[in-house]
Amino acid sequence: MRKVGATHRSKVISLLNERLAFERAALQIYGGVLEKLRSFGGPYQSVQARLRLIREEERAHEEWLEEQLRALGGGPDGESDGLLRVKAESRRVEGAMMVEHDPAALFRLLLGLEVSDVGGWELLLELADRAQDDEAREAFRQRLEEEQEHFRFVSHLAAVSTGSRILDETVITLEDASA
Ligand SMILES: [Fe+2]
Ligand SMILES: [Fe+2]
Repeated sequence: MRKVGATHRSKVISLLNERLAFERAALQIYGGVLEKLRSFGGPYQSVQARLRLIREEERAHEEWLEEQLRALGGGPDGESDGLLRVKAESRRVEGAMMVEHDPAALFRLLLGLEVSDVGGWELLLELADRAQDDEAREAFRQRLEEEQEHFRFVSHLAAVSTGSRILDETVITLEDASA
């Protein structure tokens, strides 16, 4: 992180702060969705187990970002446009999640969330590429791969649950997806 921190210091600090705000919101949103799925049994049990693992990875991302920001000496840099955008977007998703009870719709919300999650880490990776910072590139690439895995899982969930309203038909596919 040293090289990218030296060459693009304010840019990297503001992107890390945006990421941090987003990961914090993702933690809340995954928590809320898990709460709503609690009463669903059958295949949803294994779905919940997988979503809990994703939530733990989001928590690890949050903690890692806090560490990086501490090391760079960059606290929240006021309310940048990017940060405001991230906060507004997370509030919108969180609000939609609060009033939603249909699992298929909840999975689509998670899908939208993960699209942004992937995009956010891609941006950081690009910045590390430009600064030719191998260490930062590796750290961002590793987390980007985790986000791509989140995206694959929730997009499968969203597709399967939208395609079939009959739980029995979705059982095997959902369980496979969470294996
Ligand atoms: Fe994330
Ligand atoms: Fe994610």
